[in-house]
Amino acid sequence: MSIDPRMIHLYSYYRDAELRGATLLLKLTMRVENIEAQVKLSRHLADETRHAWLWTKRITDLGYEPVHVDDGYQTRIGRAVGIPRSLIDLFALTVVVEERAQRRYIEHAQRSDVDPETLAILHEVTKDEKWHIGWIKNELKEMARANGGEGKMRETLQRYRDIDRQVVADLVAKERDVFGFSFSDAPEA
Ligand SMILES: [Fe+2]
Ligand SMILES: [Fe+2]
Repeated sequence: MSIDPRMIHLYSYYRDAELRGATLLLKLTMRVENIEAQVKLSRHLADETRHAWLWTKRITDLGYEPVHVDDGYQTRIGRAVGIPRSLIDLFALTVVVEERAQRRYIEHAQRSDVDPETLAILHEVTKDEKWHIGWIKNELKEMARANGGEGKMRETLQRYRDIDRQVVADLVAKERDVFGFSFSDAPEA
């Protein structure tokens, strides 16, 4: 079966975002003391590495190798955000990148031209994001409430969401250059 090599790049971007998302969770795992949160982080981390594997497998099943990605979503957002210092920063960044992953996968899955193998992966990874966003958001809120950091939390989320929108606008523009459209575009009527 022949595949448009640009799709290998796209899957490699998804793979890269999952791997770097897992890296962010590992950082949290090294910092968080609460044992319940440690258990959730472990399950969450297992999901993200599995997602990275699903995209890797999709690429290798097609007879290709993943492409190295050094300007993907996570790299760009990381550069713009700077080094997250506090736990609130790390949790807030995780919320924003998880929301973005979920949204992007849903947008891609809504297209009418997605092959069944890719669609199955898009559904599989999207299914986990609801739980990821839910627990991370709760943890962030509880942490902020416990140490009077609710204002700081809202401010941080706002700042990260603004950065996320800019990063995505740049990536969508790049995608339109390469494909002539973006996989985030609303489905054709
Ligand atoms: Fe994921
Ligand atoms: Fe996730």
